[in-house]
Amino acid sequence: MTASIKWRFIIFLIILIIAFALTLLMTSRILENNMLHLRIADSAQKANDFALAVAYDFSRNNVEALYQSAIKEGIDLDGRVLILDAFGIVQVDSFSRLNGMRLSHQEIVEVLVEHKDSAYGFHQVQQDNGKIWCLNYVSAIIENSEMVGAVVLVQSVQDVVQSVYSIQVNYYLIYLIAILVLLVLFSFLINHILQPMSALKEGTEAISRGDFSRRLQVSGKDELAKLAEAFNTMAIRLEDVDRSRSEFISNASHELKTPLTSMKILTESILYEDNVDEDVYKEFLGDINKEIDRMTGLINDLLLMTKLQNLEEGKLQMEKVSLEQIVQEVISNLQKIAQSKAITLHAHFRFEGKVDCLPLYLRHAISNLVDNAIKYTEFGGEVFISTFKVDNMAYIQVRDTGEGIAKEEQKKIFERFYRVSKSRERETGGTGLGLYIVQTTALLHHGRIDVKSEEGKGSVFTLSIPVNADAYERK
Ligand SMILES: Nc1ncnc2c1ncn2[C@@H]1O[C@H](COP(=O)(O)OP(=O)(O)OP(=O)(O)O)[C@@H](O)[C@H]1O
Ligand SMILES: [Mg+2]
Repeated sequence: MTASIKWRFIIFLIILIIAFALTLLMTSRILENNMLHLRIADSAQKANDFALAVAYDFSRNNVEALYQSAIKEGIDLDGRVLILDAFGIVQVDSFSRLNGMRLSHQEIVEVLVEHKDSAYGFHQVQQDNGKIWCLNYVSAIIENSEMVGAVVLVQSVQDVVQSVYSIQVNYYLIYLIAILVLLVLFSFLINHILQPMSALKEGTEAISRGDFSRRLQVSGKDELAKLAEAFNTMAIRLEDVDRSRSEFISNASHELKTPLTSMKILTESILYEDNVDEDVYKEFLGDINKEIDRMTGLINDLLLMTKLQNLEEGKLQMEKVSLEQIVQEVISNLQKIAQSKAITLHAHFRFEGKVDCLPLYLRHAISNLVDNAIKYTEFGGEVFISTFKVDNMAYIQVRDTGEGIAKEEQKKIFERFYRVSKSRERETGGTGLGLYIVQTTALLHHGRIDVKSEEGKGSVFTLSIPVNADAYERK
């Protein structure tokens, strides 16, 4: 990907350099032409005027007058003036060197032979201090509508050539600097854009291969740095998800293996033992039955958890259900267990209205809170369940007089499979999924679960969800 972008940049750069060179070349040409044209126009004017002025003397062969005029004109234009007859032979030369010689420059031929009114040409002429460029402007001398000779005005255009040359030198300098700037920009581009991009590409490929430990170097504060940061956050998150997934699989397998191991031991002890008492049979079968219940509970929780995780938020079909009714159902389901531990369940309903919820999941969550309260409270204790409402939020509070939870444990109890005291697990039969499910359910309802607890005194779990789900979404 970056290789092709690099090539595109290189092609773009080459086009830019060529376009720039052409622009400079063209502007210098236009400038040169303009400056020369001014000179040509000026010479044309002077040559035509001079041809007119000398026509009279020329037809009378007044050589002295012609010579004077030529010298004067030559001084005026700081150049050389020649007067030729119709055969191209020099009659007058303001420098007095070419008299009597026949000239046959192209522009002279055009006027004398091809009968043009005027013509011009550029020639390099050797001078004391080197060669210089001159403009020869030839204009016909007309007498009675007939070409009888020509005047040639020779003027140096070396100054124009010189200034065009120095402008060109400046242009080349600008051109070189521009190319240097472009090259610097290009290397900056490669270092700061293409390299991070190819690092990003390699990182993404590594992630797609399952290497979540890959991180990118973040330098600067621009969009690419933000992209690298976002990539790193994503990688950390994926690594977390991956770790928690394998942790989950190993925990779940372990939790399933424990009851299976005890069931195997119990079964084998009856199977390979001869003459086992009926009481022992019954006791062992009772234990196996308990293990089956434990496994069923765990599998149900696992299934519920997967279902909860797969629910799509936008597609939830919330129902309006009386909160009191749900809590009453939970209480009546758990009443027996509470009684078996001589625990009194107190209910206090201060909110009697309906809430938008997924009744099945909400009931399960409340049930877990009350179940925990009973499970982790000593024989003869008390559990208080109350509902109330503040603004658009409905609250379900479950308070117990049980053993409480240490401060440092309070955050962890919402993690999957986390139990404060593992040694007690056999006695209480928990798997540590309950509060995780409560939390997931709360979040699914746009609500939350909070805990306040003091060791030895008891715990208060508060579950809150919006009464009106639409009002929540409109916020
Ligand atoms: N009311 C409570 N009083 C004291 N400790 C509690 C209370 N509720 C929960 N806990 C502690 O938090 C841990 C996690 O609770 P959670 O409901 O997630 O699991 P569990 O009750 O052990 O098993 P499960 O609910 O999956 O059958 C419990 O093992 C317990 O140590
Ligand atoms: Mg529980």
